[in-house]
Amino acid sequence: LKFVCLGNDCVDQHMIWLIGLKNVFARQLPNMPKEYIVRLVMDRSHKSVMVIRRNQVVGGITYRPYVSQKFGEIAFCAITADEQVKGYGTRLMNHLKQYARDIDGLTHFLTYADNNAVGYFIKQGFTKEISLEKDRWQGYIKDYDGGILMECKIDPKLPYTD
Ligand code: ACO
Repeated sequence: LKFVCLGNDCVDQHMIWLIGLKNVFARQLPNMPKEYIVRLVMDRSHKSVMVIRRNQVVGGITYRPYVSQKFGEIAFCAITADEQVKGYGTRLMNHLKQYARDIDGLTHFLTYADNNAVGYFIKQGFTKEISLEKDRWQGYIKDYDGGILMECKIDPKLPYTD
């Protein structure tokens, strides 16, 4: 089992994993248009943290780091159906926090959570109260009424992974 963080860098293996992740999102997020999923997963301003087991993508999170604003927007998050509720979603989020803090220099995450995923995000430290000053994120992420805006502060020191 391994966790990787990468984007569209034209490395063959990375492209294969990104396509695998796109397929997990397409199945697990049926309300999202497939073209929109492909566009963001392959977009060069987005990155993806993935769980890989036996060279297969078990799940992942696609996010856009706004480095100047020090926050990231989570676009998609999913684990393949037969591997859910085994702890992968939690480990994935911990790896995301570690990468985002140590590599991108981010302090916060924002996401529009689907109603049925709010419980998962709360367990990952997200809240519905947005403490980030509006001028740091307004205009960067677009309003979307299909979800609930949630925020997570990344601890500056905590080791999130072992
Ligand atoms: N609602 C409430 N609690 C949940 C949910 C949920 N939908 N999913 C998991 N949990 C809980 C688990 O019970 C567990 O609690 P515990 O620590 O008390 O045991 C905890 O959250 C973590 O569970 P994991 O096993 O780490 O989570 P999992 O690997 O199943 O991943 C995920 C969670 C990503 C939500 C997965 O269930 C999934 O892919 N769901 C379908 C797609 C989806 O809804 N994605 C999020 C959409 S919003 C967005 O993409 C921005």
